[in-house]
Amino acid sequence: MSSTIDSILVEDRVFPPSRAAVEGAAVPGMASYKALCDEAERDPEGFWGRLASEHLRWRKPFTRILDESRAPFYTWFEDGELNVSENCLDVHLENGNADKTAIIFEADDGTVESISYRRLHARVCRIANGMKSLGYGKGDRAIIYLPMSIEAIATMQACARLGVTHSVVFGGFSSRSLHQRIVDVGATLVFTADAQLRGGRPIALKPAVDEALAGEGGEIVRKVIVYKRSGADVAWDDGRDVWLHELEAAQSDICEPVAVESEHPLFILYTSGSTGKPKGVQHSSAGYLLWASLTSQWVFDARPGDVFWCTADVGWVTGHTYIAYGTLAAGMTQVVFEGVPTYPDAGRFWEMIQRHKVSVFYTAPTAIRSLIKAAQASPDTHPRRYDLSSLRLLGSVGEPINPEAWIWYYNNVGNGRCPIVDTWWQTETGGHILAPLPGATPLKPGSCTFALPGISAGIVNEAGEDIPNGRGGYLVIKRPWPAMIRNVWGDSKRFKDSYFPPELKGYYMAGDNAQRDSDGYYWIMGRTDDVLSISGHRLGGTEIESALVAHELVAEAAVVGRPDATTGEAIVAFVILKGRTPEGPQAEALARELRDWVASEVGPIAKPRDIRFGNNLPKTRSGKILRRLLRVVAEGQEVTQDVSTLENPDVLKQFSGVY
Ligand code: WT7
Repeated sequence: MSSTIDSILVEDRVFPPSRAAVEGAAVPGMASYKALCDEAERDPEGFWGRLASEHLRWRKPFTRILDESRAPFYTWFEDGELNVSENCLDVHLENGNADKTAIIFEADDGTVESISYRRLHARVCRIANGMKSLGYGKGDRAIIYLPMSIEAIATMQACARLGVTHSVVFGGFSSRSLHQRIVDVGATLVFTADAQLRGGRPIALKPAVDEALAGEGGEIVRKVIVYKRSGADVAWDDGRDVWLHELEAAQSDICEPVAVESEHPLFILYTSGSTGKPKGVQHSSAGYLLWASLTSQWVFDARPGDVFWCTADVGWVTGHTYIAYGTLAAGMTQVVFEGVPTYPDAGRFWEMIQRHKVSVFYTAPTAIRSLIKAAQASPDTHPRRYDLSSLRLLGSVGEPINPEAWIWYYNNVGNGRCPIVDTWWQTETGGHILAPLPGATPLKPGSCTFALPGISAGIVNEAGEDIPNGRGGYLVIKRPWPAMIRNVWGDSKRFKDSYFPPELKGYYMAGDNAQRDSDGYYWIMGRTDDVLSISGHRLGGTEIESALVAHELVAEAAVVGRPDATTGEAIVAFVILKGRTPEGPQAEALARELRDWVASEVGPIAKPRDIRFGNNLPKTRSGKILRRLLRVVAEGQEVTQDVSTLENPDVLKQFSGVY
């Protein structure tokens, strides 16, 4: 493990909740927050048991709450049975909200389509019945490779309705990445679309599926269900491919939800680890849904008239928990957006908030930073030009939000009236972990404040001992919680090794460095491993290195991140070629080729920003690449660190050209 670092950040501004934020809030005031924390502290099982009975509809009630006997393979509510889709849809049909709008979908070109809970339920049932007619059911696994759409959400819900475990693959990933996930998860069904529309352009999706299935192991997929989005011509395999609209047309609007055990895997979502191939993070049904629903109610303070908009894609965990599951379970109306924040111009988000009267807006710091820049460049896209008076709450997720961006967001988007919930969590945690409660927590710009009730977070040293406030250390969660990762799909050893290192006393290790200030507020300082955070998306340095080395001209590569004002981090690749080190136009052409290569191997988001060619990489005498030194070079700074462990200290001088 790497050594811990101490932050020098000082932020004194405090924003207590306004009276409007406290009145009628799910958790009104710090005393209510503390009461929940105390209840959880006194009797953790009783606390979670109470919430699970109150907030979920069970087909078979549970009698056991937490089983720790096979730690860290914890189980929750194990003998209970329920259906996730029933809890997200059917419950609202029966409590008078059938005609409430579930989703307001805005397409890339601005076309709007709304769907009520009743109609969404019917669509989910038709898709589920269609899946049944093709022979799919509980225990099967499906890959979902779809654009942001009502269909993507309906498809996830249809899987949940049948007990089919889904794995959503972000539409920006390449056919290689898709192939890897299909094989690893053992999918027999794939959902896709002919194309997706983003920024005024169609981007084909079906060809990537065809290519992935032609690869080794791809033949386990029996059916590909295709959503017709753009009408583009697609290659067709009559025995395998099925149009979604044709499949749905023949089906009934009623599909009995299949009761599954609490621990039944609802989904597997791949995320980058520090080494090797992406990890399939396996989530449960009951525990996951409980926390998805509760945090939607607590942190977003779901209120009956709300219009909620989370700008994430369903390909990431944020889109799972706060688009497809938690916010639906909480009965919210939500905006779903197909396009990009800068098309037709950088005012798109603000225009959509105005048009749909969004009251709760949840986005990422990288989007905020790029819109700040855009608003400076073209004042017409400044949020102050729009009527954003419908907003009452703002949220941030994915990476630390720098205090200046926080203040801009607060003043210009929230007009100084809306609390900002900076939510720290991970694919593995299932839902928010460190986050303010908008009607209770006094906010400090840049801090994700405190642990939510029931979450026993802490900061520890290498030996798992608590670190005093004001010092940096490993962010851990000391006790299990219902929505935690259950396993790495097909690799229990990796699950244990990655998240429960023996020296940390069995605590869940998040992989982030953090510290608490003298008031106990949490400040996230970044990853402890070589996982990169690009626009709030996690990418493994090793994944990109492996892709580069797979290129025929490349001998060796090391990838690090350097700070970037907009994307958080930018990827810098140090590349050693098999032949001579190129310079000038030749180096430029090769850098372009390598970027495209990485885009096709991993996906466009993994393209290195800078490529630096050299003759050899800085290594220790035992042959370990010293990425911490490359990080300094990547930032364009002088290396002043100790280089005595380097085999050849002159090695750092060679990477001067940036391509
Ligand atoms: C990593 C998890 C959680 C959904 C999106 C990312 C970083 C996330 C924050 C935040 C500072 C944050 C952490 C974490 N992160 N939210 N509010 N403040 N850092 O999910 O891809 O699993 O990435 O994102 O480093 O470990 P993910």
